[in-house]
Amino acid sequence: MSLPDLCKHYEPYFILHEDKLKAIVRRFRDEFEEGLAEYGQDMAMVPSFVTGVPDGTEEGTFLALDLGGTNLRVCEVRLLGQHRFEIKQQKYKVSDELKKGQAVILFDYIADSVDNFLTEIGSEIGTEGPLHLGFTFSFPVEQTAINAGKLLTWTKGFAAQNAIGHDVVKLLQDAFDRKHIHVQCSALVNDTVGTLLSRSYQNGPALIGAIFGTGTNGAFIDEVKTVKKLGQEKIQEAERGGEHAGKYMVLNTEWGAMDNKRTTLPISIFDNKVDRESINPRKQMFEKMVSGMYLGEVSRNILLHFIDSGLLFDGFSSPVLNTHYGYDTAFVSKVEGAKDNAEIKRIILQDLGVEADHVTETCIEIVRWACRVVATRASSLAACAVAAVVLHTGNDGSRAEPDRGVDVGMDGSVAEFLPNFETRVRDALRLILGESGEKRISLGLAKDGSGIGAALTALQAKKAMDRRGNEKSSVTHV
Ligand code: BGC
Repeated sequence: MSLPDLCKHYEPYFILHEDKLKAIVRRFRDEFEEGLAEYGQDMAMVPSFVTGVPDGTEEGTFLALDLGGTNLRVCEVRLLGQHRFEIKQQKYKVSDELKKGQAVILFDYIADSVDNFLTEIGSEIGTEGPLHLGFTFSFPVEQTAINAGKLLTWTKGFAAQNAIGHDVVKLLQDAFDRKHIHVQCSALVNDTVGTLLSRSYQNGPALIGAIFGTGTNGAFIDEVKTVKKLGQEKIQEAERGGEHAGKYMVLNTEWGAMDNKRTTLPISIFDNKVDRESINPRKQMFEKMVSGMYLGEVSRNILLHFIDSGLLFDGFSSPVLNTHYGYDTAFVSKVEGAKDNAEIKRIILQDLGVEADHVTETCIEIVRWACRVVATRASSLAACAVAAVVLHTGNDGSRAEPDRGVDVGMDGSVAEFLPNFETRVRDALRLILGESGEKRISLGLAKDGSGIGAALTALQAKKAMDRRGNEKSSVTHV
């Protein structure tokens, strides 16, 4: 069965060869440098004020809150040491009205959800003093301390008003205080930072935490001195032993915004349509080609184009196909995972609601092709991001020191459920870094990074707070 020539016409936008992959990696590395040198760049390169990764011995019980994936999650995390943990959690739906209404209403809802969790699930955390909460807030934030940061922009379909430019920890704390809920938000953490910490806690020190889910982003650990925009004074203070002392810092890249300027990414007419019709046009360009919120939509645009060209379903569409975000990335995953054409036909009938008479073998091949190219490009681009961090941090095995390889913790629906994701990431890594470079990289799922990572960050923040308390009291005694 041969595919129509139109498929060949669009393939260069989706099947990325070595030169293109390497050009994208170069662009990544340039944008890493730009974001580290100056504030206000597309790639925000946010210092997280987390100064190391855990070693698995950490203990304590903390509340964690996770906003930015499909649901709002409230968790109680018990870090048991020995790389082990227990987690109790409850999910809360965040409606479109909440996502797009006034921020204060969204934060009231979040505070109410925490209250509901504490009442329904209870808490084993002692009642002495306020409960410490780690807040995983997975949007671009310019962080100024481990417990403070201003929202730069919303992503992933959120657009709540009067939040951009505001400190999100304050917005949350104010909501707790208004409602007399005895909880203190002591740490603010991005889900990628959480994933890096969680992977390290469970599996030994990792270099990268990456999310390939509703959105995409990555964090890595590097020397503080690379964050030039902090200024010499702050870098030296951090290295000497300032408030958040240490030679290292976890950096949240916000790589979803890579190439917003559109110099290098292979942007097709289908991607332009997704971008133009999104609530954040010209933003998060990389994310719109990689993450779960958009892959279904890119494939829908392809299918519509083939229908309108008279090559698919006899030129007939369906209400699902005609609806903006009519289906999601799960459709792509199902088609990719189907064992034969008969199964793909069933999926087309059920999920797209196309009439059976219009579904020929060629139509099935076109749908299979569309899902394959969208998924393959997402995986290749994911590999570019990982390879760029490995090269940027000098972890490509070229250093004189003993080569320990590189570990990457991943989380998110695309990493977990898109068939062949890891195999395709590896195929692209091999093209970019060569066989030996690819082999040095271990990739592993670090599920629940947002919960465990938030708890680990809350622990780091609490330790720093206790240290400061002790310093203050020793000063008083002197
Ligand atoms: C956000 C990131 C987040 C990523 C994954 C992106 O849209 O900007 O902060 O880490 O989604 O959740």
